[in-house]
Amino acid sequence: MTFTVNGKGFKRLLNTFLVLAMITTMATSVYAADPVPPTAPTVAAIPDVKLKDLTAKPNVIVIATGGTIAGQVADGDPTNLQNYRAGTYTMEDMVAQLPRKDKIADVSTYQFGNKGSGGYLITELYDLSLAVDQALKTYDGVVVTTGTDTMEDIAYFLDLTVRSEKPVVITGAMRPWDAIGTDAPANLYNAIKLAGSGKTKWFGTVLMLNDVIQAARDVTKSNAHRLDTFETPILGALGYIDQDSISIYRAPGRVSKAGKPTWSTPFDLSKITKADLPMVEIAYAYQEAGGGAIKGFVADGAKGIVTAGTGAGGISAKMSAARTEAIKQGVLFVTTTRTGSGTMYPSSSDGIIAGDSLNAQHARMLLLLSLAFTKDQKTIKDWFATFGAQNVETSATGS
Ligand code: SIN
Repeated sequence: MTFTVNGKGFKRLLNTFLVLAMITTMATSVYAADPVPPTAPTVAAIPDVKLKDLTAKPNVIVIATGGTIAGQVADGDPTNLQNYRAGTYTMEDMVAQLPRKDKIADVSTYQFGNKGSGGYLITELYDLSLAVDQALKTYDGVVVTTGTDTMEDIAYFLDLTVRSEKPVVITGAMRPWDAIGTDAPANLYNAIKLAGSGKTKWFGTVLMLNDVIQAARDVTKSNAHRLDTFETPILGALGYIDQDSISIYRAPGRVSKAGKPTWSTPFDLSKITKADLPMVEIAYAYQEAGGGAIKGFVADGAKGIVTAGTGAGGISAKMSAARTEAIKQGVLFVTTTRTGSGTMYPSSSDGIIAGDSLNAQHARMLLLLSLAFTKDQKTIKDWFATFGAQNVETSATGS
C-alpha cells in the first residue's frame, strides 16, 4: 500500500504498523469488554502532517477503500455507465485530478484498499475504524471513500466505533470516475470540503453524496442506480452543499451530548481484538416464512440475529418457533421492520431486544458490536435504548 501527502507525489511503502499501547490490562472503562484481549490491536500508519503543511487551510485525509467512485469504464467507453470495474483508480491519482482543491483543504490520501464495498470483512472494518481514529490524531477531518452498496453498513460501523469528535465524512459515487456525467469527482470534492469545514464536528460519521449530507445512523440506499439513491426515511437529510455554501439544518441526536461522556459509545475497538467480533445475521420475514434461515444461522455459529419483520416487527409462526429454540441456546435477537421506517418499542421478552428505528443492517452492526463487548443482555438492551436510539438529550428532560 502507498500513500501521498498533499498530493505532491511524496510516496512511501507502507510497511510499518503502530501498536496501540497499554490496552490489554487497562480496560478500565465502565464499558470495558468482557474478554480481555490477548494481544494489542494494530493500526495502519497514517502519514504525518508536516509542519510546512500547517497552513490556514484545513488538513484533510482521504482514506480510500474502492467502489464505483474509483471505477474505470469497460473498453475505454465513457458511456458505459453500468459496465465498469469498481475499485480501479488510486485515490492519489483521483485527488491529483481534482481541480481547485487548494481552495478548500490540504489534501492527503491513504489507500486502505481498492475493492467493492460488499467485499470487506467486519475484521477489515475494525482496521478501517482504527485507521480513521489514527488519522484524526493529526488531521482536521477524514473522508472515507467506499462503494455505495454497503456504505450505510460501513458508515454506521464507523459512527459507532470512531472515538474522535472530529468530522468523518463517507462518500462514493453511482457512476464510475471516468464515465460521462460521473458524480465521482464532485462527490469527492464536496466531501473534502465538508470534512475540512468542521461543520459536522460531534456529528459522528455523516454520509455525503449528490450534495446531500445525511446521518450514518439513519441513512439508507434506496435505489440500485439513481444518483440520489441515499435517503433518510421520516427524519430527512441534515443539510446540503451548494458550491461554497454548506447548510446544516438539523443535527443527529448525539450532538446534544457533545463534550459529555455519553457522547462516546462503549465500542472502543482498542479494547477488543478481531476475534471478539461475533457472527450476527439478518433473517427476513415474509408470507409463511420458514424457520430454516434462523436454524441455519444458529448452526453456522451466529451469536445474534436481527429479524426484519413485517409491519411493526412481526415474524411468521415458523420463524417464531425457530427463534424460541435459538434463544434457549443463548442467541440474542433484535426486532426491526422490513417496511423501511418506524420504531420498535421494548418488550419484556427475554432474548429479544427492540431495534428502535434502526433498519436491519444498522441494528445488525449495533448488535454485533454489543456482543463483542459484553454477553450481558440487560447491558445490550440498555445500549440499544441509549446509543442505538440516540434521542436528543436536553437539560429539560434531565436525560
Ligand atoms: C460497491 O458498492 O462497491 C459497488 C457499487 C458502488 O460503489 O456504487
